[in-house]
Amino acid sequence: MTPTTRRPRWAGFPIAAFVAVLMSVAVGLGAPDARAQVGDGSPEAGPVETEPGGLTLKSRTPDPNLTSPDQVELYVPHDDQVVGRVSIPDQKLATLVQPEGRTWRAFRMEGLFWTAIGVIGVTVLGLAAFFLYRGRIRISAGRSGTWIPRFSFWERLAHWTAALSFISLAITGLIVTFGRYALIPLIGHDAFTATSEVAKYVHNFSGTPFVFAILFMLVVWIKDNIPSRADWDWLRHAGGVLKGASYHPETERFNAGQKGIFWAVVLGGLAMSVTGYLMLAPFAVTGVGGMQIFHVVHGLLAVLLTAIIIAHIYIGTLGMEGAFDAMGRGEVDENWAKEHHRGWYETKRPPRVYQPPRTPPGEVSPAE
Ligand code: HEM
Repeated sequence: MTPTTRRPRWAGFPIAAFVAVLMSVAVGLGAPDARAQVGDGSPEAGPVETEPGGLTLKSRTPDPNLTSPDQVELYVPHDDQVVGRVSIPDQKLATLVQPEGRTWRAFRMEGLFWTAIGVIGVTVLGLAAFFLYRGRIRISAGRSGTWIPRFSFWERLAHWTAALSFISLAITGLIVTFGRYALIPLIGHDAFTATSEVAKYVHNFSGTPFVFAILFMLVVWIKDNIPSRADWDWLRHAGGVLKGASYHPETERFNAGQKGIFWAVVLGGLAMSVTGYLMLAPFAVTGVGGMQIFHVVHGLLAVLLTAIIIAHIYIGTLGMEGAFDAMGRGEVDENWAKEHHRGWYETKRPPRVYQPPRTPPGEVSPAE
């Protein structure tokens, strides 16, 4: 087949299995890419003679006059796609060079790593600084000892299914994405091969309970997460959680911060699920350009949601006294409810039993 050059089209072009195989080998197994094999000076480049048997560039090409990689058409960086003609049904195989793949690979190998370090690092440092500044947010009036029901069994089941599957997705996603750098130096190649294989399967299977859980949350909690005027008040007073704040904004069942988490988890989680399933069925709906976009969206959302959930876990455990009871036992202390969700508490508070005024027998009480 004769290679010809055409303008790049990001999403539309079919791909060559040749390029896909090169990418998966280069990225997934960590082999140096074609240019690296012939010594292009990249950090991953090995010696020139890297093939079994020590073949040189000369002996691997039909043309004995080729002496440098730059003389080999496919080793020269292209700005355009190089697409040929094939007579087999799978037209993807006609793409020999897909330059957008280089941008994608840079994102996969470096961009995503530094984004994750930056976003998650800033979140963890920010939470640590907030903890040092504010300490644990206590129930100012102390515990009352009276419990108010907050979440039903089914709500908690959905929450913990989402939580466990998310944590499993996050850990296995990190192993698959960054394990090559982080784990191989610690546990070696053999153990990493086994670990990453298990991580890949666990990652694929944890997605489904996560989707069901967030769909359930969406249906059950959407009515409590519609933005309202109370949210504005809560935001203006930073939730009443800053040091010395005497005003606790009145909130409904969920405050503005929680509504933000809800929508981030539901919309972000659904976008992650869709892109995840599309990557499980490669090329089902798009070519290699589309697959690269799905991967980038999936990776960036994963970083963002992980940071949001770290903040959520902090406030639900260490950050605020009395919050964990809501999801742990399904009920909260009455004073916690009054302080953090006054509006909701007013609709839920236990009916007071009428207590007649206590007056000594024979005396007329002032009210009479
Ligand atoms: C160990 C992990 C987690 C802990 C300790 C935790 C704790 C909590 C607590 C205590 C509440 C109730 C807050 C209240 O009553 O006002 C809650 C609510 C909620 N959780 Fe979690 N959670 C965890 C993980 C997750 C994960 C992974 C997700 C989603 C992927 C999630 C999504 C939600 C949502 C949407 C709500 C309702 C809105 C809100 O309170 O922010 N949680 N969680």
